[in-house]
Amino acid sequence: MKPITDQIKEKPYKGWVLFLATIIIVFFLGLLASSIVERRAEAVFAYTPKIEHSQWEPRNDVWGENFPRQYNKFLQTEDQSFKSKYNGSEHRDMLEEDPRLVVLWAGYGFAKEYNQGKGHEHAINDMHKILRTGAPVDGKKSPMPNTCWTCKSPDVPRKMEEMGVAEFYKGSWETLGHEIVNNIGCADCHDAQNMNLRISRPALVEAYQRMGIDINTVSHQDMRSLACAQCHVEYYFKGDGKYLTFPWDKGTSVEAMEAYYDEYEIKDWIHTISKAPMLKAQHPDFELFQTGIHAQRGLACADCHMPYINEGGQKFTDHKIQSPLNNIANTCQVCHREETTELLANVYERQDKIKENRDKLEELLVRAHVEAGKAWELGVNENKMTNVLQDIRHAQWRWDYVAASHGGSFHSPIESGRIISTGINIAQEARLKLARILADLDYNQEVPYPDIDTKAKAQKYIGLDAEKMNTDKERFMKEVVPEWDIKAEEREKEYKTKNI
Ligand code: HEC
Ligand code: HEC
Ligand code: HEC
Ligand code: HEC
Repeated sequence: MKPITDQIKEKPYKGWVLFLATIIIVFFLGLLASSIVERRAEAVFAYTPKIEHSQWEPRNDVWGENFPRQYNKFLQTEDQSFKSKYNGSEHRDMLEEDPRLVVLWAGYGFAKEYNQGKGHEHAINDMHKILRTGAPVDGKKSPMPNTCWTCKSPDVPRKMEEMGVAEFYKGSWETLGHEIVNNIGCADCHDAQNMNLRISRPALVEAYQRMGIDINTVSHQDMRSLACAQCHVEYYFKGDGKYLTFPWDKGTSVEAMEAYYDEYEIKDWIHTISKAPMLKAQHPDFELFQTGIHAQRGLACADCHMPYINEGGQKFTDHKIQSPLNNIANTCQVCHREETTELLANVYERQDKIKENRDKLEELLVRAHVEAGKAWELGVNENKMTNVLQDIRHAQWRWDYVAASHGGSFHSPIESGRIISTGINIAQEARLKLARILADLDYNQEVPYPDIDTKAKAQKYIGLDAEKMNTDKERFMKEVVPEWDIKAEEREKEYKTKNI
């Protein structure tokens, strides 16, 4: 080819074409550069702190001044309009939906009231209202310790810092009522200095220590799950000090935790009908999730429950923590090509199948409790019951482990199915032993299944006075809670913040 200067000499229009093309390219490069600078400026604008506050500032609106996008989304966890087949953010009275639960928990607070979990903005109010915390009026005490507050509020790390951790847990629940008032929030998961994720709850740090892991050394992706594992885990209240403890010393499988509880002879309560030393599984979401395919492929809780979203040219983390089924486009479909209806069907299919056998186990457990009750009624020798009661404890622990891990049937369907089937096996063992015991006592017929097809009937059957519990609670809500709020408001006026 001839040199370009010769070409232009021969055909001058080529020179003009080259000139114009260069101008156009430079123009677009300029646009690109200006857009980058603008975005940068926007980013700086969005993340320039406007207000300085303390590391343990519990008020989410104060943090919200610096991070309005995250704060506005976070406030939306108040929304109660989404209902999926088994979960969602609506109020659902689980005892009304399934009165057998009342019998399974006879003698324990959960038989009084148990609802489907709602969004984080409901945490404090739900705790005030739930019958399990009782009605501490006229100097009466709540049946629950302060440990119960641990998963409800960023006032908890603030108070722990002030009082010391062990001191915080001691004492009955109403003694810190005026201190714990802000719903789960920023200080629970973030370091105020740099907004890095942080673990604010000592129970998780201590559990990792006992497993030989320094939690400060985990990866960033692990932190995106561990922020949730501060609360969405199995735990118990250790000893008289009610010290919050995760039972992970032998591992986090259902068997490892059961072995831990058995070794230390821990029981949450004695069942009023069967007299079995029971365990209440809390919500081992984190533990069960680890055994599923998504965890094995490296996903963290935040990938599905806090997806990235885009607003006004800003990519940020959606702080409306909720069921991912309310936002399939930003969650599942980031990785899966399938249609929404198919992904939804995948989730429901897994949940339906686990529930099918979980319901069978539930009925077996009701029967086992009632049959054991019959044996006591007929004067059975205590020694004969030891193995049976241990079986009932283990079978119900397995049922509860799956039932209380609200996302478990999707997070890890195979492990959930396995746990339920071992539970069915153990429950049947218990009933075989009971049939022999009852026969020895000359009782050779089926023990009648109780008439418990509504919550009211079931609560009456186990001897709960629902009406009294409700009137007491109403008084507590009217007389005590407003006082707590006034005290908290006075105290918070003294907190220092600085505009910058
Ligand atoms: C339950 C834990 C949790 C709570 C509560 C929480 N965040 Fe976050 N936040 C996260 C996670 C997880 C991320 C993603 C972090 C990452 O991947 O680096 C995040 C990211 C952020 C970021 C970084 C930018 C972004 O959007 O990715 C900011 C800023 C932020 N959060 C602000 C807040 C504010 C303000 C509040 C309170 C209104 C809050 N967060 C409450 C867990 C939480
Ligand atoms: C400080 C404790 C705490 C932390 C940390 C926490 N949660 Fe929760 N979470 C709760 C409590 C308590 C509820 C139930 C609130 C209620 O029903 O009043 C809840 C409810 C939920 C729900 C049900 C919401 C709905 O609309 O149905 C989901 C989903 C959830 N949390 C996921 C997460 C994820 C994911 C993380 C981590 C990014 C996380 N949580 C961190 C305590 C916590
Ligand atoms: C960050 C990527 C990612 C996201 C988000 C994600 N998945 Fe997956 N999913 C995977 C990977 C990876 C696998 C494993 C598939 C493999 O390795 O072949 C998987 C597997 C599955 C499977 C088959 C597992 C089984 O039980 O046999 C289903 C069903 C599924 N995902 C549904 C969903 C749904 C529903 C959502 C949203 C709630 C979702 N996924 C969100 C990456 C993701
Ligand atoms: C692959 C996506 C995915 C990941 C990752 C994931 N979840 Fe879920 N989670 C789901 C789906 C789907 C459901 C079922 C929602 C429904 O039925 O409405 C669910 C349900 C839940 C629920 C009950 C929600 C409700 O509405 O009451 C909680 C709580 C929960 N998950 C916590 C967690 C925690 C904690 C982690 C991390 C240890 C985690 N999830 C990781 C997809 C995921």
